[in-house]
Amino acid sequence: MHAQLIIDASYIAAAFLFIYGLKRMSSPVTARSGIVVAGVGVAVAVAASFLYAFEVPAAVRPHLTLNLILAAIALAIGLIWAWISGKRVAMTAMPQMVAIYNGLGGGAAALIAASELFAPTAAGEPTQYVRLFVTVLGALIGGVSFAGSVIAWAKLDGRIDKTWRIKGQQALNGAVMLIAVILGLYIVFGAHGHAPPALTAAFFVVTLIFGVLMTMPIGGADMPVVISLYNAFTGLAVGAEGFVLQNPALMIAGMVVGSAGTLLTLLMAKAMNRSVRNVLFSNFGAVGEAQSEIAGSLKPTEPADAAVQMRYASKVIIAPGYGLAVAQAQHKLYEFVKLLQDAGVDVKFAIHPVAGRMPGHMNVLLAEAGVPYDVIYDMEDVNGEFKEADVALVIGANDTVNPAARSNKTSPIYGMPILNVDQAKQVYVVKRGQGKGYSGVENELFYRDNCNMVYGDAQKVMVQMIQAVKELGD
Ligand code: TAP
Repeated sequence: MHAQLIIDASYIAAAFLFIYGLKRMSSPVTARSGIVVAGVGVAVAVAASFLYAFEVPAAVRPHLTLNLILAAIALAIGLIWAWISGKRVAMTAMPQMVAIYNGLGGGAAALIAASELFAPTAAGEPTQYVRLFVTVLGALIGGVSFAGSVIAWAKLDGRIDKTWRIKGQQALNGAVMLIAVILGLYIVFGAHGHAPPALTAAFFVVTLIFGVLMTMPIGGADMPVVISLYNAFTGLAVGAEGFVLQNPALMIAGMVVGSAGTLLTLLMAKAMNRSVRNVLFSNFGAVGEAQSEIAGSLKPTEPADAAVQMRYASKVIIAPGYGLAVAQAQHKLYEFVKLLQDAGVDVKFAIHPVAGRMPGHMNVLLAEAGVPYDVIYDMEDVNGEFKEADVALVIGANDTVNPAARSNKTSPIYGMPILNVDQAKQVYVVKRGQGKGYSGVENELFYRDNCNMVYGDAQKVMVQMIQAVKELGD
């Protein structure tokens, strides 16, 4: 009784810490501490779970020591693995790490469901349909999230580099999904929770196959949205299994993850001007082929010339994109910005909500370089200022600054909100060559009269720009 009280109180404390941590994650200033707070919440919840040892019924006690040892070993393996991989991971590899961790959450929920469904139930016991239904639902969602996330990880990590599309794909996926649902319903209402183990196993196998089939055709670049969706699925599955185990910490954590994941998925899809359905069921990269000719020409310029003009400008707005992450040029970029600021230039960073390849990608990069938050602006807060800027410096960004999104109805990115860099007096675009952005469409901006291209790897270009400004002296 005493232990149960401590467990309940710990779970309430953990739930509070999850929600408070999430709240703190909403601003880059407090995000780091938010992660620590949520992490403490997880530690409290995990520690409290061990107190169940004092509450177990006498019949289970003989297995207690072995179970506790196994749980401690599992915990130690997880901790050590996560600690080492978290320390080692490169910023650009973060999406795949999120994918695999998320998948493991879904897999854990499915395993809890499996332990419930395979456990022998007493024959005379009344069937608790709601509990059984929620168990099966959690198993289905968790299994799909696990298998789908593993495929997403493999694609983002370059281990699977093909999109696997066949004729009638959607019909096949629909059929597999239907089989999973029928098996699930049979386990609940047909077998009343006493399904033969082979059938229960078949149900799990089919959910995994569905997760694989659903994710294989989706292009690697769409994966961040898909991961976010699976994140929401994992939350739902964990919440469902929390209900089954009557564990409030799991229920609350699951609901928080489920709703945060859903909101993030919708936000990302909106910022890309696409529906979640479109992300899941269409081949995005292939749309950009049929484009009209763009008037104008590409005008290359030297890094030093661009740097000197920025040094004598009053206001410069920087639009960073995916290429900044590829080049790992954030430190050099900030070094350059500091030189401009020392020369009295007003410098701001403009962040598009889907710049890069994961939510907050640019904010994380800039924070890593030590750029203060008060010069970093969200798109809607800074977009009105481009017309007053002497220079817009686009560094490794492409789709997020393509004016075709405003005017070209045939463009696949039509309707996506963009950074108004084209409205600045002069635009410099730093990129390596003629490489397209994620959407695969040509960028009208590069051909405009007020735009010059500074070709080269972003980091190397920044080194040259820093050099040029330093050579000018005071
Ligand atoms: P992108 O449109 O993807 O363009 C990146 C550009 O960076 C490329 O054109 C490439 O041109 C250049 N680049 C690559 N490596 C470089 C290097 N080492 N140095 C300099 N430049 C380099 O980038 P964006 O503007 O950030 O847009 C993001 C896109 O990703 C959007 O279409 C968005 O919808 C999509 N997306 C984003 C997310 C999230 S959550 N952020 C999720 C899914 C999809 P070169 O090859 O010529 O250098």
